[in-house]
Formats: sequence, structure tokens, C-alpha cells
Amino acid sequence: MPDAFAEDIEEVLVPAARIRDRLDELARQIEEDYADVDDLLIVGVLKGAYVLMSDLARRLRMPTSVDFMAVSSYGAATTSSGVVRILKDLDTEIEGRHLLIVEDIIDSGLTLDYLLGNLRSRGPASIEVMTLLTKPSRRRVDIPVRYVGFEVPDVFVVGYGLDYDEHYRNLDFIGTLRPEVYS
Ligand code: IMP
Ligand code: MG
Repeated sequence: MPDAFAEDIEEVLVPAARIRDRLDELARQIEEDYADVDDLLIVGVLKGAYVLMSDLARRLRMPTSVDFMAVSSYGAATTSSGVVRILKDLDTEIEGRHLLIVEDIIDSGLTLDYLLGNLRSRGPASIEVMTLLTKPSRRRVDIPVRYVGFEVPDVFVVGYGLDYDEHYRNLDFIGTLRPEVYS
């Protein structure tokens, strides 16, 4: 780990090599599942999913299009309220399209629950979800997730797209922060 990060990181939960191996597996699974689909639309949820989107899309040996959405929760930032505001909508019409939503982490599930309801109302042919990380112990609504990278415990994690106060997104691994960093 570069020195610039070593002093802030408490523990590496998922090393870069494990992320790469898991993405190889998931990409092969997605290629199989969508073998009959002409043009899969991969939708990244900004900002957290930008790293995963890039690494996943380049592993897929099949026709794909890429689009992004940005969402934010209203109100207090510490816990997700489930009330979601769309900051950036899709550029693409999705009626009749096959969508794969790509998320960094599913925590309470409230953000994605709102997003799925919103996207379903636009009449896509199918919607599936891929997430790099999931915290099952925190889930408040049941979300159908087709592709999961890793389960993590109920701890705050950073890296590989995930931030604390907009930092650490560029780490190539998933880790936890030393308590001093928060204070
Ligand atoms: P949910 O609506 O509670 O599922 O919120 C999920 C969003 O909260 C994710 O897309 C992240 O932006 C953020 N989040 C949840 N847990 C973490 C974490 O451990 N580290 C960084 N961001 C997190
Ligand atoms: Mg975030």
C-alpha cells in the first residue's frame, strides 16, 4: 500500500487481487446470462460505481452501452431516509431495453429500492442489479440482487469507488479507516 494511504487505513478487507478475480468470474456469468441479448445497457450509479463500471465493462466480451445516474438522499446524511432525489437522469430511453444496474454497495437498500421502482415504471424489458459489496445485516428492504462481489460486515468501508468525505475512492482495494481519520 502506498505510504500516502497506509497511515489512514486500519485494515484491508478485500485486496485488489481478490476484486480482480471476482470481477473475472462475474463478467463470465453476465456474458452467459445475457448471451441472447443484443445490446445490454449497463447503468452505473454515481459516484461510487464509477470504478466498478469501468473495470466490469472492459471485461465484457459482448455488445453493451453505458449510461449513468446520480442520486442523493434528502435530509440527514448519516442514515438513508429512502427519499431519493435524481441529480442526473439517464440519457437513454429504456423502454424495451435490458438493464444492468451497477452499485458500489447496498446498505439499507432504500436508495436502490427507490431507483428500481422509478426505472421499472419506464417499461424496460428486464432489470438486474450488480453490486460490488453488500452489508446484509443492515438491509431494511429486500432487494433482488443478481450479482454480488463480496459481503462485508457492518463497518464503514472505503476504496474502489467508495468514499469518506469524497476521499479514498481511488484506492484499488476495500478497507476500513483508522478511528483518528473520522475525528
Ligand atoms: P442505502 O440506501 O442505505 O443502501 O445506501 C447506499 C449508499 O450509501 C451507497 O451507494 C454508498 O454511497 C453509501 N454507503 C453505504 N455504506 C457505505 C460504506 O461503508 N462506505 C461508503 N459509502 C457507503
Ligand atoms: Mg457515498
